[in-house]
Amino acid sequence: MQHIINRRAVLRAAATLPLMLGLARTAGAATLPLVTVTKDPSCGCCGDWVQHLRAEGFPVRVIESADVDSLKQRLGVPPDLASCHTAEVGGYVVEGHVPAPAIRRMLAQRPDATGLAVPGMPAGSPGMDYPGVAPEPYDVILFAPSRRATFARFNGKHEV
Ligand code: CU
Ligand code: CU
Repeated sequence: MQHIINRRAVLRAAATLPLMLGLARTAGAATLPLVTVTKDPSCGCCGDWVQHLRAEGFPVRVIESADVDSLKQRLGVPPDLASCHTAEVGGYVVEGHVPAPAIRRMLAQRPDATGLAVPGMPAGSPGMDYPGVAPEPYDVILFAPSRRATFARFNGKHEV
């Protein structure tokens, strides 16, 4: 079922490609797949993360839901890796305030995994970058049902 939905999403993204080519700032941005973000309607930092993705060239579709937790469960996000919003892109899950460069790298490398997570909401991560708040270092974790690994380490928006 998940596969069918993802394929439809990809086909839909392909249908809008000529339009995107006209709007995208770079040719590379037009090749990025659609990110479907499910978020609580009252979540402000979630909306700021969506803006970050769009600024980085990702097409984004937002689904407002008062029950993001059941989606996390269905998609296999481990409870201790949970954050606010949950996103789906290219057959992967993206949990929380994952920086766009890490998503691009995962999509290029296509690792055998469920997806990426930034648990909690680290200060300074994309969407959590408020003026006057010092960024803290955080890990981007690549996770699968029975294993996980540090995929990247960031401080604010910058990889370290
Ligand atoms: Cu958040
Ligand atoms: Cu969020």
